[in-house]
Amino acid sequence: MKYAINNRGKALAVVALALASLAFATAQSQWDIPEAEAQALNPTPLTPENVEAGKLLYEKNCQSCHGNPGKGDNLAVLIPPPPDLGTAEFQEANTPGMIFHKVTNGMGTMPSFKLSIASDNERWYIVHYIRSFGDHPEDAEVAVEEAAKPAGSKIEMSVELGADSTLMARILTTDSTGAKVPAVGVEVSFFAKRYFGMLPIGEGAVKTNAQGLASVKFPSDLPGDSTGLVQVFVQVKDVDTYGKVEAEQAVQWGISTVPKNLLDDRTLWTIGWNAPLWLIITYAGILGIVFIILGVVALNVKKMKELGDNYNAKNP
Ligand code: HEC
Repeated sequence: MKYAINNRGKALAVVALALASLAFATAQSQWDIPEAEAQALNPTPLTPENVEAGKLLYEKNCQSCHGNPGKGDNLAVLIPPPPDLGTAEFQEANTPGMIFHKVTNGMGTMPSFKLSIASDNERWYIVHYIRSFGDHPEDAEVAVEEAAKPAGSKIEMSVELGADSTLMARILTTDSTGAKVPAVGVEVSFFAKRYFGMLPIGEGAVKTNAQGLASVKFPSDLPGDSTGLVQVFVQVKDVDTYGKVEAEQAVQWGISTVPKNLLDDRTLWTIGWNAPLWLIITYAGILGIVFIILGVVALNVKKMKELGDNYNAKNP
């Protein structure tokens, strides 16, 4: 009996130790995901293109460890092994936000892809690809909701003219209470419209400041129309995030230029005496030579006639 108890005690001790180490191990390796991040919805629409983009990114960055989702062919030599992301168990336990958090931040042997896949959108494409191995009709609804929003509804822009020929774009957004607040850090590009294309004003895009204002100095040497009017085009750079947000504004800050008639200059395509001088001289010269040759021929013909008349007169 004594022996048996001893044995059972040993067995219990082993089990307790195993449980303790398991508890210790799990305490060391648990995803700690803030609720807001776990609930985050995929901001990129669920389209075949985005899933395909996610598939390519997955094959390049993840497959070597995780294998093909749903095939259970992951590289199991790591401890803990990289789980198969296609299993029903994983699919049910993970929201899009949780997958995004895990891919972004990593944990232990699972690398963080915050830097190596720096684009948030690209990491969300991978989430779309991974979720495509489960049954998540709600993902498509989210995307439809996103797509149904008219482009540019999140921010609005107005163009203002400051002193000293400063062009300003004011960008407002709506906060959670519905109040209009300045949108900070939105990149804005300014252009002057030309006959052929757009001329950028300033050096690249400008970010809005704390007041939601992005400004550039209008160049002093830009030609405008006859009254100095220049059509300015302002555009929010990040179309992916905000949609197409654009504005146009005429400013009076250009140098007034009278548009030239294309036929006013001495050009090859012009008409009459506006042709290039060399053309007129060459033309007149050739014409002169032709007349001189004609004159010489006429003179010689006259001479021949006189010779003939003389001959006839001498030999009747
Ligand atoms: C170096 C091998 C390796 C690479 C590369 C890798 N992972 Fe992992 N991943 C792991 C390991 C190991 C774990 C398990 C981590 C743990 O539980 O401690 C893991 C865990 C995960 C989890 C969480 C699984 C769960 O059950 O919670 C997700 C999601 C994941 N990886 C996605 C990815 C994606 C997407 C990529 C590519 C962008 C990727 N991983 C690249 C090794 C890797």
